[in-house]
Amino acid sequence: MELPYAEPYKIKVVEPLYRSTRQEREKWIKEARYNLFNLRSDHVFVDLLTDSGTGAMSHMQWSEIMLGDESYAGSLSFHKLKDTISELLGMPYFLPTHQGRAAENVLFSALIKENDIVPGNSHFDTTKGHIEYRRARAIDCTIDEACNTSEFHPFKGNIDLQKLEDVFKKYPKEQIPLCIITVTCNTSGGQPVSMQNIKEVTALCRKYGIMPVFDAARFAENAYFIKIREKGYENKTVKEIVKEMFSYVDGATMSSKKDAIVNIGGFIALRDKALYDKACVFNIMYEGFITYGGMAGRDMGALAQGLDEGTEFDYLEARIGQVAYLGDKLRSFGIPIQEPTGGHAVFVDAKKFLPNVPKEQYQAQTLGVELYVEAGVRGVEIGTLLADRNPITRENRYPVLELLRLAIPRRVYTNNHMDYIAVALANIWERRESITKGFHIVSEAPIMRHFTVELERV
Ligand code: F0G
Repeated sequence: MELPYAEPYKIKVVEPLYRSTRQEREKWIKEARYNLFNLRSDHVFVDLLTDSGTGAMSHMQWSEIMLGDESYAGSLSFHKLKDTISELLGMPYFLPTHQGRAAENVLFSALIKENDIVPGNSHFDTTKGHIEYRRARAIDCTIDEACNTSEFHPFKGNIDLQKLEDVFKKYPKEQIPLCIITVTCNTSGGQPVSMQNIKEVTALCRKYGIMPVFDAARFAENAYFIKIREKGYENKTVKEIVKEMFSYVDGATMSSKKDAIVNIGGFIALRDKALYDKACVFNIMYEGFITYGGMAGRDMGALAQGLDEGTEFDYLEARIGQVAYLGDKLRSFGIPIQEPTGGHAVFVDAKKFLPNVPKEQYQAQTLGVELYVEAGVRGVEIGTLLADRNPITRENRYPVLELLRLAIPRRVYTNNHMDYIAVALANIWERRESITKGFHIVSEAPIMRHFTVELERV
C-alpha cells in the first residue's frame, strides 16, 4: 500500500482549551452583541475565525526570535529576510511592514489617486478598503464559475480575461495604476489562480501598459495547487513554482501572517527601483524606517525562516490535506460548501444551508452564531456584513456568495478537531428547517463594519 501523508512535525508545546456549556455560550454571544469578533478567546473551543497570525511557529522560528538583531537601521535580521525574499521570490527590492494592510497602505499611497480603477479577482476587504478610502474603485473580474459553489473548477480564483480587457478598454491606462491578482483568492473561497491564468492576465496587462501586482498572502498554497492540479508542474518543486509565479508580476503586497506562518508581519516586494524609492517615503511615515517597517528584528528572522518552511511540499500537503479532510466530512453529511475546498478554509454556503432566513437578516452571520452556540466553534461571516454598504448610495451590497468561512490555523488543530466541527455543523443541518430568523444591525462603523458591528436577534 502507498503510505498516506502525515504531518512532517511533532508537537512540543500545547495550550489547554476550555469546553464551555451551551448556556455559557448563549450568555457570552449575547454580551458580544452577536459579533463573533467580540468574544474572548477563552470562550471559544475551536477558533476558526482566521488563519491569519494564528499558526504555530516551529522550533527553528522560535530560535530566530532569540537571534533577532534589534538595531534601528541595517539589522542582520532585516538582511536575512531581504536575502530570503530575493532568493525565493526573485524580487530585488523589499520593504517590511507590520502586516498586509500596512503594505497596501504604503504601496497604494505611492500608486493610487482619486477616481482610479483597480481591477482584480475579488479584492480582500482591507485591499478594497484602502482603494475606496482613496476614492478609487475596485472592479472584480473573477471568473463566473467562482460564484457557483457546487461547480468543481480547479482554479476558481482565475481572472476572466474578457472582463479584464473590457476594463482596460473602457478606462485610459493613466486611470488604472495596477491590477491585483490575489493568490489564493480568499474571498471566493481560498481558491487558486492557475499559472496559465497568471501568464495570460499579466500578458494582457503588458499589452495595455498596466502594472500587475500580487496580493501574495497565500502564495505558497496557490503554488501547491498549481503543482497538484496543473499539467506540466507535477515534477516541479513548490519553490520553483513560486519563483515562476513571481517572475510574471512587478510587485507584491504580503500579509506574512498567513503562508509565512508568523504571528505578525508583512512586506512589499518590488522589481522597480523608482517605485521602491517612492514607497520608501510612505514606509518611513506610516510604518518605520525602511529596515524594520513596524517589525521587531526577531520577527523578521522568524518570518525569513517561515517563508522557507511554508514553501515545503510535505508541510503544504498536510496543511491543505487537513482542510480537504474537513471538507470531505461536511460533504458526507450533505452540507453545501464551496467546491472544491480551498487552501486555508472550508466555506459553507449559507444561502443553501439556511434558505428560510431572509437575506436582509444576514444568513451567514446567523449560521456563524448557531455554530458557536452549538459547539463553541468560531467561524467568520464572508457575506453581506463583510460586503458592507455601497460607498455612494449607502445601500447594503448583497454579494452573490453568502458564506461562513471556517479558516484552519496552520499546524494548530488535529483531525479530531475537524471531526468535532463537522458533527457540530451536521447537528445544525438536521434542524435547519426550523431556523427562520436572523439578525438586524443595532450599530455599525462607516467602513469595514463587520469587525465592530452590533446585532440583535430579529
Ligand atoms: N490580503 C488577503 C488576501 C488577506 O486575506 C488579508 C487578511 C490581507 C490582505 C490583509 O492582511 O490582515 O495582515 O493586514 N486576511 C485575514 C483573514 C485578516 O482573516 O482572511 P493583514
